[in-house]
Amino acid sequence: MTTLPMPNAREDAEALDRADPLADARDAFLLPEGITYLVGHSLGPATQKATARIETTAQEEWAQGLVGSWNTADWIHYPQALGDRIAPLIGAKAGEVAVCDSVSVNLFKLAAAILPLVRDKTLMVEDDEFPTDQYVAEGLAGLIGQPMQRVSRQGSLDALQSGGVLIKSVVSYRDGLIADMRAYEEAAAKAGGAIIWDLSHTVGMVPVALHEVGARFATGCTYKYLNGGPGAPSFLFVQMEAASLLSNPIPGWLGHKEPFVFSSRYEPAEGVQRFVAGTPGILSCAALSGALDVFEGRRVSDLHEKAGRLGDLCIARAQALGLDVRSPDDCRKRGGHVSLGHEAGYPIVRALAERGIQADFRTPDTIRFGFSPLFLRYVDVWDAMDALAEIVRDRLWDEPRFHVRAKVT
Ligand SMILES: Cc1ncc(COP(=O)(O)O)c(C=O)c1O
Repeated sequence: MTTLPMPNAREDAEALDRADPLADARDAFLLPEGITYLVGHSLGPATQKATARIETTAQEEWAQGLVGSWNTADWIHYPQALGDRIAPLIGAKAGEVAVCDSVSVNLFKLAAAILPLVRDKTLMVEDDEFPTDQYVAEGLAGLIGQPMQRVSRQGSLDALQSGGVLIKSVVSYRDGLIADMRAYEEAAAKAGGAIIWDLSHTVGMVPVALHEVGARFATGCTYKYLNGGPGAPSFLFVQMEAASLLSNPIPGWLGHKEPFVFSSRYEPAEGVQRFVAGTPGILSCAALSGALDVFEGRRVSDLHEKAGRLGDLCIARAQALGLDVRSPDDCRKRGGHVSLGHEAGYPIVRALAERGIQADFRTPDTIRFGFSPLFLRYVDVWDAMDALAEIVRDRLWDEPRFHVRAKVT
């Protein structure tokens, strides 16, 4: 990683934008005028290609092609075709990734399939893990009558020493810390346990090499840094050799070896395809297909490097304001977002939004700024931090309208 000077003035930020090798990617996005979008870690913005692909799918493939489009537009192969395009972004091989369902459902399917095969059938999850991961673990363990253990983030590596299945995010949704995947995989391999990686805050942002670190199971969102659209389907990775050992607890017809034989007897498809349960949402698959175009020919390491610099700028300015930075200082250890702690976090986020700067808030007191490198500029971060400085310094957040909680924060 080459070091670039930290901007000390807006002109410095402008100079970095002029020299930015990723600057051209911004044109691929449909960004509303006057909005600085620092929430790509929650819902990535629309791209021209994604919306065009939805339009074509709706107007031509569905309206004109009707049911025949399952074959002529190859809708039936979307789960594998999209999976094959995501595979290189996470260091997986073609045929090891399928796009289907949500992360919640895929965590359930994977955990239920893996638990019977590990030593010590305890399902483990960290107590500051994304809530859905905790709820699914608890729900599944209760359903099948196996123990479930909540462990601390500091203690999860140790907990793996006795086997079991650990559900763990590579990048923490709270502070953005990147886990040492290799250390966890080594511990799991030694103990006869397994890890299901949640790559929701990783894919399209942090360069991971699933094969290289020995990872066998993962799932993740496509609506964050992959910009697949609201409610875009999740993806699921199972290492090729491991797939044949696993049974999908939701053995739907599209995970069957030959769905159009309509046999009464379930026979799983080869590989990860057995985890596709039912009919894919084609309009969402179409959006994701268009959205992935912007990643063609780009290296995830370059994306992470720029996100790191944008985040460093945010952290430097937040520290100068005396704010509580909750994310790692070292951008190599940090995912795509930076979290700041402030007791008035929610009204501050609302006051920023009134100025067209969108960030998000996580209870009890965390403001998150996401640094999607494909469309954000250094000046965007500079200006957002100027606004934050003014709002915090002059307590501009302390207006009744900024305290009214929306359902989605
Ligand atoms: C780490 C993590 N896991 C899972 C989810 C939710 O996944 P889904 O809604 O696809 O079930 C999110 C959503 O933000 C997340 O951040």
